[in-house]
Amino acid sequence: MLYDNHNRPIQYLRLAVTDRCNLRCFYCMPEEGIKYLPKHQLLTYEEMERIVRVLAGMGVSKVRITGGEPFVRNGLMDFMRTLSGIPGLNELAMTTNGVLTAPHVNELVELGVRSVNLSLDSLDRERFRQITRRDELPAVLNTLDALLAAGVQVKINAVVMEGQNTQDLGPLAELSRQPGVSVRFIEEMPFNGEGTHYPVLNWTYRRILNELQQLYPGLQKVPDGPFSTSYDYQIPGYAGTLGVIAAFSRTFCGTCNRIRLTAQGTLKTCLYDNGVLDVRALLRAGASDDELRAAFLKAFAHRPANGFEAEQQRAPVTESMSTIGG
Ligand code: GTP
Ligand code: 5AD
Ligand code: SF4
Repeated sequence: MLYDNHNRPIQYLRLAVTDRCNLRCFYCMPEEGIKYLPKHQLLTYEEMERIVRVLAGMGVSKVRITGGEPFVRNGLMDFMRTLSGIPGLNELAMTTNGVLTAPHVNELVELGVRSVNLSLDSLDRERFRQITRRDELPAVLNTLDALLAAGVQVKINAVVMEGQNTQDLGPLAELSRQPGVSVRFIEEMPFNGEGTHYPVLNWTYRRILNELQQLYPGLQKVPDGPFSTSYDYQIPGYAGTLGVIAAFSRTFCGTCNRIRLTAQGTLKTCLYDNGVLDVRALLRAGASDDELRAAFLKAFAHRPANGFEAEQQRAPVTESMSTIGG
């Protein structure tokens, strides 16, 4: 098992395979998109594979593929197949916006992907279009159906935004009627790629929870998963669950078991750091596996106890969630 300097296990890598996206969710990036990385600055699939192999050999057992939108990058499914064969990895997961995902669901299942996190902020076509600036709700719902039909566990991610989708809490919560569904309502975080839209957090997890309790007075607390980002609840009689992710008003630092690799190969040992290791540069300078391991161990020995507090002492975050991978 791999531990950091605060005795937290490091088991979970969030790997952003691209910074590009086919949606333009306004809480994530501006209308014109972010300045995308030129291809040579992106890690190749071979480079990513090597990093994952080394980390898996050190104790990382879970990889979540994120983006941008993972399916925007060509060759993703071949890469997923490669990952599925790496010794030591026992959980392969993905976060997707669902626009291009449906045709790949059966293959994902075949590769052992048992859980997919799907971004879905509204079930109303017009509101979905306003939030994402694209008219893709039908494609996303198609993916949801395909995932559930294939028996995949689906965590639905809905960022709750004043004036945008607060009327969707009930309809989205209703999706938890189905088995295998967890609908998670998320506090908005200040990562919209402009550094401008610092949200006034109208919808704290407390308020979201109050609203859900008004809608469903019998709402019951259920145990949270280990290292989970969400506080989980269940509507009596519904097979799935509801969750609230206090992504901004609280931190999960105490139990944080995750590290991140951005699409350009920067290691982040915390969501709120600016990158602690340029893994791409190491690889391209010809580092051996031993040198990579040593560099990772050094980075893990310097993780902040509370990265959010550390960030408060610095300049505001201007990154888009699309480059961080969430
Ligand atoms: P699993 O626990 O593997 O299911 O993943 P997750 O719920 O962390 O991942 P997902 O990609 O679905 O992200 C859900 C929300 O949690 C997004 O808004 C993320 O940005 C947020 N999130 C993920 N990790 C962290 C974290 O370390 N800190 C904070 N504050 N938010 C996070
Ligand atoms: N605040 C909170 N969640 C966000 N996501 C993207 N941007 C933000 C933000 N500013 C979520 C998306 C996606 C997940 C990876 O991150 O809903 O599901
Ligand atoms: Fe794309 Fe996800 Fe950002 Fe929306 S939140 S623009 S789906 S990366």
